[in-house]
Amino acid sequence: MHLIRRNRILRSSPAIRAMVAETILKPSDFIAPLFITEGSNVKEEITSMQGYFRMSIDTTLIEVKQLWDLGIKCVLLFIKCKDELKDNRGAEAINPDGLMQRSIKAIKDACPDMVVMTDVALDPYSIYGHDGIVEGSEIVNDPTVDMLAMMSLSHAVAGADFVAPSDMMDGRILAIRDTLEYNGYTKTGIMSYSAKYASCFYGPFRDALDSAPGFGDKKTYQMDYANRTEAIKETLLDVEEGADIVMVKPAMAYLDIIREIKDSVVLPVSAYHVSGEYAMIKAAAKMGWLDENKAIIESLTSIKRAGADLIATYFAKDAAMLLNK
Ligand code: PBG
Repeated sequence: MHLIRRNRILRSSPAIRAMVAETILKPSDFIAPLFITEGSNVKEEITSMQGYFRMSIDTTLIEVKQLWDLGIKCVLLFIKCKDELKDNRGAEAINPDGLMQRSIKAIKDACPDMVVMTDVALDPYSIYGHDGIVEGSEIVNDPTVDMLAMMSLSHAVAGADFVAPSDMMDGRILAIRDTLEYNGYTKTGIMSYSAKYASCFYGPFRDALDSAPGFGDKKTYQMDYANRTEAIKETLLDVEEGADIVMVKPAMAYLDIIREIKDSVVLPVSAYHVSGEYAMIKAAAKMGWLDENKAIIESLTSIKRAGADLIATYFAKDAAMLLNK
């Protein structure tokens, strides 16, 4: 053969491959989700998310310091609300002394440089497990948005660096931005779950927080996974309404959406590698059917290659340890 181009030359040794690699993961790409529960010295494994834990605030602080030492710059907080505190409006979500508010303060005190993001949605606080207020069989938009804006303010007051609304109500980014501005919280950012699909891959997360919807599903607010242009519409609107970072969720079944959004906006794009995506790798690895470490790095690299600047992932710590080796 007489070829003018031999593409294999650039793949011929680890050194050459490292020189021409286009996508390099680093620990600061990751956002580590944390599940916080009441109590002290608690570290409970989540059955459907093996190797992942619900932790009390004291245990969480140890974890946060370890994450920081590994080079992770950001945590995303979720709390498990006690059943007796749940209602339809999610009143506990704005309790200045609630578990979320105490967690934010404790983390910012213990590790002030760690960027603290907080989940904003009513489902952990809702007797119905829905992200909004329920009237009849409907999840009502506007009263929910009022509540989400107050919830965001309450997180900002407690010291959150970013609020992360994960609910998919209409108009919530504008309402949150307005409320923060009006109250002088001009340094609090908004990471919007802009293109969040109604996905079966959230199953294990709902176990973790005991937040599965009590009736129906989330398809009247989360997006239909058949749709692409709707993701762009949602995202561009969130950008107009004042989002600082936009997000696509889930990640691996939506790499096309991540790329399209990355090409459509001029701000950072994050992707949420969700609980079901974590559980699939864990389960296959446990059966001996996949090499877990390789699956982690390949998955996260593909999400970054698709266009994600940031990746929320339950593998944040494992990946950071692998990258630091
Ligand atoms: C709810 C929320 C969910 C997740 C993050 N926030 C679940 C849902 O929408 O039902 C899922 C995260 C995951 O699966 O890892 N506001």
